[in-house]
Amino acid sequence: MSTDKKLIGKVALITGGARGLGRGYALRLANLGADIAIVDRNLKAADVYEFERKLMTAETVTAECEALGVRAIGLEVDLTDREAAERAVNEVVAVLGRVDIVVCNAGGGTFAFADEQSGASSDLNTTGTAADCPQEMLERVLDINLMTCMYTCMAVAPHMKRQQAGKIVTVSSVAGVDAGAGYHPYGTAKAAIIHYTRALAQELGPYNINVNCIAPGIIRTGRLGDRSNMASRIPLRREGTIEDCAKVVEFLATDLSDYVTGRTIVIDGGVYH
Ligand SMILES: NC(=O)c1ccc[n+]([C@@H]2O[C@H](COP(=O)([O-])OP(=O)(O)OC[C@H]3O[C@@H](n4cnc5c(N)ncnc54)[C@H](O)[C@@H]3O)[C@@H](O)[C@H]2O)c1
Repeated sequence: MSTDKKLIGKVALITGGARGLGRGYALRLANLGADIAIVDRNLKAADVYEFERKLMTAETVTAECEALGVRAIGLEVDLTDREAAERAVNEVVAVLGRVDIVVCNAGGGTFAFADEQSGASSDLNTTGTAADCPQEMLERVLDINLMTCMYTCMAVAPHMKRQQAGKIVTVSSVAGVDAGAGYHPYGTAKAAIIHYTRALAQELGPYNINVNCIAPGIIRTGRLGDRSNMASRIPLRREGTIEDCAKVVEFLATDLSDYVTGRTIVIDGGVYH
């Protein structure tokens, strides 16, 4: 991990940062010196999977960031509620003073998370198709992916405009790039995030705000489980890691990407071509 503390004095907000990829982004940016705000519907979400529990070095990701010597706060908020998203962003700015970086990571192809179902040990995933998708599934998956992203971006935009600076990273998926790679309505939500990223970049560019997107492929997290058996189908011959994605987020959250905006970077070991 980089020892260059180039983000000292900056504040980074990571949605869905209580476990998995979002936790990886929070730790990476904290290691670069950024103060961290975690906004997640469950700040103890890592407890749900053994894989995530084992990674944790403290009770919460907020505490892990503090141990790295930065300020950190955690807000338990369901970002599918637009007003709650707005309040959360305003609270981050009130407590930490500003918001420089946002990673809109909350989401997943999940119909019901394990921690939402009493006693369940795994998530309930979507099985809808483009021609036939139950209404509740359609709304839920669009809500947790597309709407949480849009609500977060809309809530941070006024603060970043005032600062005349900002880095927004949205999170799509290879399922949003390749219609054959994912299931409906997850892929549809993730494709819309790519379009939204381009539109937002056009609007916020004049304010010196960069908006870019990442589209991860097969990445090992607790939620997705071990998919190392798919390695032979991946040109780089391994499933991706949380760090593989965090390195790209570092690029998009720092001055390395100052002249890049509106783009989507696919992180999939070369599967999509
Ligand atoms: N892991 C992969 O292979 C992969 C591939 C492509 C894209 N992605 C995307 O990366 C992101 C993170 O994936 P992950 O595997 O780390 O998932 P995860 O389920 O481990 O983490 C998602 C986090 O978001 C939180 N969250 C969900 N809905 C929320 C809401 N409404 N409000 C606030 N917080 C909410 C959850 O509590 C959880 O902590 C997701 O957007 C996912 O679609 C993951």
